[in-house]
Amino acid sequence: RQDIGKITTGTNCLDTLFDGGVETQALTEVYGEFGSGKTQFAHTLAVMVQKPKTEGGLDGGVLYIDTENTFRPERIVSIAQAHEMDPEKVLDRIIVARAYNSAHQTLILEEAGPIIEENNIRLIVADSAVGLFRAEYLGRGTLSNRQQKLNHFVHMLSRIAETYNCAAIATNQVMASPDVFFGDPTRPIGGNVVAHTSTYRIYFKKSGKKRIARMVDSPHHPEEEVIFALGEAGVMD
Ligand code: GTP
Ligand code: MG
Repeated sequence: RQDIGKITTGTNCLDTLFDGGVETQALTEVYGEFGSGKTQFAHTLAVMVQKPKTEGGLDGGVLYIDTENTFRPERIVSIAQAHEMDPEKVLDRIIVARAYNSAHQTLILEEAGPIIEENNIRLIVADSAVGLFRAEYLGRGTLSNRQQKLNHFVHMLSRIAETYNCAAIATNQVMASPDVFFGDPTRPIGGNVVAHTSTYRIYFKKSGKKRIARMVDSPHHPEEEVIFALGEAGVMD
C-alpha cells in the first residue's frame, strides 16, 4: 500500500486546518454558500498538486470534472504565476472533463482509471459533485432515486481516491441558513450522502471580504476555524 500524500493549499492558514495539506486516498467535501470560494479552492489545488514534493505538491496531474462550467483557464494562469510556475505547463496537466448531466458525470468517473494512470493524476475534482443531481431530480417522488445515484457517484470517487492514491475534492453548495451560521454546520441541505462518504469535510463561509474555513467532523483534526482570502493567487493568507 502506498503512502498517503498531502497537497499544500498554498496558504499557511488552510494548511494548518488540513494538518499539512489535502490528503490522498481520501475524499474531502468542501461545502459552503455561493461565492464562498469552493471553486477558487479547487483551482488553487489543481495548481499546487503540480508542485514538486519538496515544495508541498505531488508532482501530479489533475482530473477536473466541471459540472457547472466554472473551470477558468485564466484563473489557473493567474494562480500559477502567483506561485512562480509556468502557466502553460500547469494548464497542460489539468484534464478538464465537462459533465453535461449527472449520468455523464458518473460515466466520466467510471472511465477515469486509464486516464489517471497514464497522466499520473494525483487530484480529482468534482465541482460541483451534487449540482446536476440536485437539478435533475426535483420533487419528492425522485428523492431516493437521486440519493442512490449520488451515493454511487461519491462512493466511486472515494474508492478511486484510495485505489489510485489521489486526493478527491467534492464541492457542495449549501444555503446560508441561520443554523449553519450560528449553530452546527454539519447538516448541509441535500448533502448528507456526500457527508457520510467523505473522510474530511470543510465548511467555507463568507464574512465580508474575508472567508472563514472550518474543519467539521474530522477524525483527527481539532475543530477550528481559520480566516483566508480570495484573490489573484486563488485562496490566500
Ligand atoms: P458557487 O459555485 O456559486 O457555489 O460558489 P463558490 O463557492 O464556488 O465560489 P467561488 O470559488 O467561485 O468564489 C467566487 C469569489 O471568488 C468571488 O466572489 C470573488 O470574491 C473571488 N474571486 C474569483 N475570481 C477572482 C479573481 O480573479 N480575483 C479576485 N480578487 N477574486 C476572485
Ligand atoms: Mg463554484
